Amino acid sequence: MTTSKIADPKLAGEGEKNFLWAKEHMGALTALTEKQVRKKPLEGLTVGVCLHVTKETSVLVDALLRCGADVKLAGANPLSTQDDVAAYLATRTDVWAWRGETIQDYNWCLKKVLESRPEQLIDDGADLHVAVHTSNAKGIVVVGGSEETTTGVVRLKALEREGKLRYPVVAVNNAQTKFLFDNRYGTGQSTIDGILRATALLLAGKRVVVVGYGWVGKGVAKRARGMDAKVTVVEVDPIKAIEAYLDGFEVTNIMDAARRGEIFITATGQKNVVPYAAIERMNDGAILSNAGHFDVEIDVKTLLSKAKSVKEVRPHVDEVTLPNGKRVHLIGKGRITNLVAAEGHPPEVMQMSFANQLLVALYIRKNHSKMEKRIYGVPEELEREIAYATLDSLGIVISEPTEEQAEYAQSWAI
Ligand code: NAI
Repeated sequence: MTTSKIADPKLAGEGEKNFLWAKEHMGALTALTEKQVRKKPLEGLTVGVCLHVTKETSVLVDALLRCGADVKLAGANPLSTQDDVAAYLATRTDVWAWRGETIQDYNWCLKKVLESRPEQLIDDGADLHVAVHTSNAKGIVVVGGSEETTTGVVRLKALEREGKLRYPVVAVNNAQTKFLFDNRYGTGQSTIDGILRATALLLAGKRVVVVGYGWVGKGVAKRARGMDAKVTVVEVDPIKAIEAYLDGFEVTNIMDAARRGEIFITATGQKNVVPYAAIERMNDGAILSNAGHFDVEIDVKTLLSKAKSVKEVRPHVDEVTLPNGKRVHLIGKGRITNLVAAEGHPPEVMQMSFANQLLVALYIRKNHSKMEKRIYGVPEELEREIAYATLDSLGIVISEPTEEQAEYAQSWAI
């Protein structure tokens, strides 16, 4: 009997259409799944999953189910669940996720996943991993897990450093077939998409300030420039700052950028990178948007505590009036814009991220007894398999090095 809790089961038909649409554009994941389904390599395994419940995630859940796993799913953010997709997945497995969860609801959903005693975990942001480590979690024996995003890996590395990690974790985020494409092209496009859907304003000619020039920031800055915005980058890492400068962006600090920016986009994984002091300096009508995992990057807490008034002026846009009379427009309450105001990453990108998640789940099932309680990278042979499957899905055949070239690459002689 299903115990799912979702917004509306009647949306399942819509969710199935979105599942099919995503699946059609995730050929690499589908091909890799088809190779496995007959062997049912995950038979008898309960997998606890905490991911943004999007159409792309439904394709991963389908793959895990078809490989024999029992999947228990919660959303990775209170505002990111696509209710139609959750309704469709609830026709196939247990799902605890709906859009607009309170923090209490969100934690309750994670608890439901843990109550089903998963042996392996797939997480995005490490809230599920941390729940295993901090709850009494009696009867839960996790043999291994994976982590989808930069911020989650940072938190898990802290657990590892303190000697508290209870099982091996594979950092899927750190795979080249993940961060090079998902963080950069996926977040780059979908964050801009979220800002445009939320505001319906013109990007051309606007001064866009991108805070953080890591993989996400690079993608966002490039897409904004592609739409003829004037882009300024704010960094704290001197090398990344030079990289941004040589990539042709203006580079400065947040207090200087605050005076001139019209749209601010955070992409750091760090807290208060847009401090209240910077918000006070901004022009009337400035737009604030966050692409980082948690809603801590813009100092929303201070902003709201000092606000003269807050009113929703469009879906996902709150107009906040400051004591100095100026207004700022906060998108998605400071949560990840691309999942709150748009649909998250496109399927062509997620096919690689989720191919990593699938192959890593199979790898952990097979190898966990030989693994230590530490953070692992994705094995290189899996990355190559995913890269070739992706090229295949795109109809691209690349050159192979000749024997002579392979030998030359290993030799010191000219
Ligand atoms: P990264 O580590 O490659 O880049 C972060 C950058 O922010 C670094 O260059 C760092 O020097 C810079 N930074 C740190 N503190 C700063 C400050 N005070 N001011 C300016 N810059 C600062 O990380 P990545 O992969 O770009 O991820 C960034 C965030 O985005 C993380 O929270 C990650 O989990 C999240 N993420 C979100 C996605 C989405 O769908 N919205 C997808 C992928 C990642």
